[in-house]
Amino acid sequence: MSGPPTNTIALELTNIGKAFGGLLAVDGVSLAMRPGERRAILGPNGAGKTTLFSLISGEQPVTSGRIHLFGHDVTRTSAHRRAALGLARTYQITNLFPRLTALDNCLLAVQALSRTKFHLHRPLTGYAGHFVRARAVLDSVGLAVKEGEQVRNLSHGEQRQLEIALALAGSPRLLLLDEPTAGLSPAESQLMVGLLQRLDPAISILIIEHDMDVAFEVTDRITVLHYGRVVADGLAADVKTNPLVQEIYLGAAEP
Ligand SMILES: Nc1ncnc2c1ncn2[C@@H]1O[C@H](COP(=O)(O)OP(=O)(O)OP(=O)(O)O)[C@@H](O)[C@H]1O
Ligand SMILES: [Mg+2]
Repeated sequence: MSGPPTNTIALELTNIGKAFGGLLAVDGVSLAMRPGERRAILGPNGAGKTTLFSLISGEQPVTSGRIHLFGHDVTRTSAHRRAALGLARTYQITNLFPRLTALDNCLLAVQALSRTKFHLHRPLTGYAGHFVRARAVLDSVGLAVKEGEQVRNLSHGEQRQLEIALALAGSPRLLLLDEPTAGLSPAESQLMVGLLQRLDPAISILIIEHDMDVAFEVTDRITVLHYGRVVADGLAADVKTNPLVQEIYLGAAEP
C-alpha cells in the first residue's frame, strides 16, 4: 500500500481490466466514489459485474489498471488487507451456514474479523464483546427476534438480510452488495430497500442490481456495464433515459 490516506474518495478504479484467457470480462473500467455515495452497477448477464466486485475486493487480481481504497493503492493488496481498510462484500450466491442459528452466523463473522485468536474448545458465547457486536449487527437488519432460529428455517428474504448483517460485522466503510434482492418477492425486496436506506449514511455502497426500481430507490448514481465496459455513468435520472441503456439493458430495441 502507498499514497496518503484521504477522506475525499472512498474508491477509485483507474482503467482496470480482467482477462480470462481471451475474454475481457472487465475492460478498462474507471469510476470514483465519494464517502457515503450510493451507486448501482447495472448490466446484462455476463457483463462483468461480479468480476468487477472480485477485483475491488481483491479475491481476483486485475490484469491491468489501478485500484485505490480510501487513498491507498490496493492494486496488489490482499483481500484480507482490503477488508481491514473497511471493505466488505456480499455474494450473489448465499454463503451462510444453514444449520447454525442467525446469531451464531453473526458471531462467526465477528470472530473472523477480530484479532482475538480463535480457540476451538471455547464456546462462541464465551466472547462477551463478540456476542454484543453480533447482536447489534443482527438488530441493525431487523432480525433480532430471529437470533435463535436456524438459518435454514429463515425465509429467503431473511437470509439475504442476514448476509447484510454479516457484511456489517466489521463496521465497513465501503459495502459491495451483489444482487441483494435476487429471488426475493416484491414485498421482501421492499423490506431490503428499507433496510439499505436505513444503513449508516457514512457507508459507501456499491450495489449490483437487476431490478431498476430497487436501484433507483437506494442509489443516486448508476454505472452501466456492457461486455465489461462502462457504457453509461451518471445520475440515475439521466442514465434511465439514455437511449443506449434502454436498448441494451431494458431491451427497448426488441420488437
Ligand atoms: N473465473 C472465471 N473464469 C473464466 N471466465 C469467467 C470467470 N468468472 C467470470 N467469467 C466470465 O466473465 C464474464 C463476466 O462474468 P460475471 O460473472 O462477472 O458477469 P455478471 O455481470 O456478474 O453476470 P450475472 O448478471 O449473470 O451475474 C462472463 O462471460 C463469465 O462467463
Ligand atoms: Mg454476477
